[in-house]
Amino acid sequence: MGKKTAEDFAREQKEISVSEFFEKNKHLLGFDNPTKSLLMAVKEAVDNSLDACEEAGILPDIVIKIKNVKEDIYVVSVMDNGPGIVKAQIPRILGKLLYGSKFHRLKQSRGQQGIGISSVTLYSQLTTGVPTKVWSKTGNGKKIHYCELHLNTQTNEPDILKQEEVEKGIAGEHGTKIEMEMHGRYRKTVEDYIKHTSVSNPFVKLTYTAPDGTKKIFPRSVNELPRTPKTMRPHPHGMEFGTLKKLLQHTKSRTITAFLTNEFSSIGQHSARAIVKGAKLSDSQKPHELDRVQIEKLIKSMQEAKVQRPPTDCLSPIGNKELEKSLNKEYPEAEFVTSITRDPEVYRGFPFLIEVGIVYGLQEKKKKDDDERQSTIELIRFANKVPLLYQQSACALTDAVKGVDWRRYNMQQSGSNLPAGPMKLVVHICSVWVPFVSESKEAVAGYPEIIKETKLAIQDAGRKLSSFLSGKRKAGEQKRRIQMFDRYSGEVAQALAVLTDHKEKDIQKSLTELVKSRIHIKEEFTDDNTEKNGES
Ligand SMILES: Nc1ncnc2c1ncn2[C@@H]1O[C@H](COP(=O)(O)OP(=O)(O)OP(=O)(O)O)[C@@H](O)[C@H]1O
Ligand SMILES: [Mg+2]
Repeated sequence: MGKKTAEDFAREQKEISVSEFFEKNKHLLGFDNPTKSLLMAVKEAVDNSLDACEEAGILPDIVIKIKNVKEDIYVVSVMDNGPGIVKAQIPRILGKLLYGSKFHRLKQSRGQQGIGISSVTLYSQLTTGVPTKVWSKTGNGKKIHYCELHLNTQTNEPDILKQEEVEKGIAGEHGTKIEMEMHGRYRKTVEDYIKHTSVSNPFVKLTYTAPDGTKKIFPRSVNELPRTPKTMRPHPHGMEFGTLKKLLQHTKSRTITAFLTNEFSSIGQHSARAIVKGAKLSDSQKPHELDRVQIEKLIKSMQEAKVQRPPTDCLSPIGNKELEKSLNKEYPEAEFVTSITRDPEVYRGFPFLIEVGIVYGLQEKKKKDDDERQSTIELIRFANKVPLLYQQSACALTDAVKGVDWRRYNMQQSGSNLPAGPMKLVVHICSVWVPFVSESKEAVAGYPEIIKETKLAIQDAGRKLSSFLSGKRKAGEQKRRIQMFDRYSGEVAQALAVLTDHKEKDIQKSLTELVKSRIHIKEEFTDDNTEKNGES
């Protein structure tokens, strides 16, 4: 047998379509086990519905249903009251990977890559072969477009199986409904995702029907949409060679100074001239004429230039008050709730912002063996208001939590460095571009700026927690001292009555008042002194 020649290789070499690639690597898109796959389907559809409603200025009302049709086969259906999708776009949105409206812009949204919902079509057809069904209505009085489709993995194009106008399917004036059948396993994670989505999107109403038929409504805690984030132009400090080269080639600007002021954020005339000078370029050169060495010089000069920070109106945080409201709504039994929203920071030229919420004092089930050790807290991560439910240990937000010395905030720290105790910690990053570690968008990459800023945010919230806890501890100590006094006051009063000729009852009353005045306790001698949100 001879060895292979270049010609033999040549016969075997052929192009791989993006869909074939992801069909084989569905784990990269988050479909690596049946439980997670079912969750991904719900998550991709709901995230899209929220993005569409928010961009269209509509208060979202989303209805989610999961039906168990056979042993391990489920039908997922998600209906929104969003703007709907025009007929011609439906097949490509659902039947073509890497097709969407959010990839080429710098604006905070839940989706960013254009692969979310079509990857669910791919997974559904891979595991059941049943086509994806879509209903869409784009306005009052308009017909409902209905479509059934597959994704052709060889061409990465949609295969339309049926397309017609129908009377029923969308309840309101406009909206989209998507139904997909797939292999899955139902676990609590789906409900966790919905519950957490309701926390991070206080303006959303979610109605959820689980496979066992139970229906739950997650109401709004605020009735207004958040401020719409603006689209930003790239910031000069985050530029990389290839990107700058592409921008130079495609710009309509005739001079480099104009190019800099038109295509970037935070560059005015003055900084533009300084950058051109720093790069030793002349403004008579046309942007597309720059060679490799000149582009490198331009990047260097852009990075060194003193320019303003990126604009922050492209970010839309949950909001300090809103987050606190929805945490109070979801965890009414908590002893203490607090939250903070930091000012925006920048990584690679992308603005981002961190928010932290703390819910403390939820009753936990006691372990059987009376274990004194506290279990680690529940960490709830969000990126652009989307709950991240997997890959916690690979996430920069988790690293930041572990990097904080929790003992300084009156909390125990477990062996894994996560804090321990009856607490839920919410950490939210929002950005025009969240750097996820993979296409499945489950964990945030460890940029030092992100870890540092997250730590600072946690410390801000930690200080509030700490003063609550030390108030609680003080109250506990006082309570013990009073209990101690209570134990002996009877005997003391009795002895004093014998010695002084006063009535024992009167003496005991005076003693009690004396203690009250010394310990500064109001009337709650034996009550628990903790108060919800009672920072002291
Ligand atoms: N429910 C919906 N209503 C209106 N438009 C939608 C809806 N769902 C999806 N779209 C449109 O379809 C596009 C593709 O959606 P898809 O989920 O595949 O990608 P994406 O949301 O842009 O990014 P990601 O891959 O990160 O989810 C979106 O960019 C949006 O323009
Ligand atoms: Mg999406």
